[in-house]
Amino acid sequence: STTPVNVTVTGAAGQIGYALLFRIASGAMLGPDTPVRLRLLEIPQAVKAAEGTAMELDDCAFPLLDGVDIFDDATAAFDGVNVALLVGARPRGPGMERGDLLAANGGIFGPQGAAINAGAADDVRVLVVGNPANTNALIAASSAPDVPTERFTAMMRLDHNRALAQLAQKTGTGVADVTNVTIWGNHSAKQYPDVAHATIGGRPAPEVIGDDAWVTDTFIPTVAKRGAAIIDARGASSAASAANAAIDHVRDWVLGTPAGEWTSVGMVSDGSYGVPEGLISGFPAVSTGGAWEIVQGLSVSETAQAGIDVSVGELTEERDAVKELGLI
Ligand code: NAI
Repeated sequence: STTPVNVTVTGAAGQIGYALLFRIASGAMLGPDTPVRLRLLEIPQAVKAAEGTAMELDDCAFPLLDGVDIFDDATAAFDGVNVALLVGARPRGPGMERGDLLAANGGIFGPQGAAINAGAADDVRVLVVGNPANTNALIAASSAPDVPTERFTAMMRLDHNRALAQLAQKTGTGVADVTNVTIWGNHSAKQYPDVAHATIGGRPAPEVIGDDAWVTDTFIPTVAKRGAAIIDARGASSAASAANAAIDHVRDWVLGTPAGEWTSVGMVSDGSYGVPEGLISGFPAVSTGGAWEIVQGLSVSETAQAGIDVSVGELTEERDAVKELGLI
């Protein structure tokens, strides 16, 4: 039998955690042949709730689940970790300024990055889900100088999947017919969802959609503001869809993206597409099972570049703010 993969999930007692852990344990993330050991990290007040979730994980009798350990200490939780899902974050409270939010999250993601640096396995891969995801990933990466920055990623996959669903519905196709959408920039309302290189049923998406105004006036804002629409309808933020996107992101990273298809990944910029080097931004990316690679050489229209630049401008501001706070 194979050695279990150590998967650490932070914020394990939260709503995304509850939607995520059972799917990891069932094999949806790493495949049907890979046993997993779950390591749950929570704050002390939520450890009891995490223990309840662990009881339910036992009660599922998942054949691939090697065991569940619960921690309230980051150093212990990340010891030997192969896949780290950083979900727990500090939400924006009433009257909280952006600087306060960034500082509060720096107090979480800085120490977690240091704990990953200290104890993670050599092949560690990190996905940051907790918002502001891109900048939290940057903070964690800069607190882990011995781990290649490429191993720290931020989740753009939920935005990507939202885009696939909108395009399939608009064109009366299935989501599996839609490929090569890109979500550029920040996981925020200023993201730039891009269909220029997408295909639907093998044909250029703009041609199949046949309605450029819909793309600009409906598609882009619907995808970018979907998180708020979910909160409005559900009275709580996206959880099962966020967990599903995290599963998709790690699965494609570890097992590879389908031939000829890319997905959207928040990853460190090498300077491509005018994104300043070192920022963690949404890019089109592929994996063959090792590292994420940015898809190079795509033509970008002036309009698209302007959309990318706006979103990247926001990332630059966030980076400047955390630099000023001494968090990176
Ligand atoms: P939640 O509030 O239900 O759960 C968060 C959990 O994190 C809580 O159980 C809390 O105790 C825990 N936590 C807080 N600080 C922690 C720390 N230092 N170490 C370990 N655990 C800690 O929140 P939910 O709905 O599960 O969302 C989690 C995060 O994911 C939020 O920041 C949310 O904004 C973000 N999110 C990101 C998305 C994306 O596409 N990137 C999509 C949806 C949500």
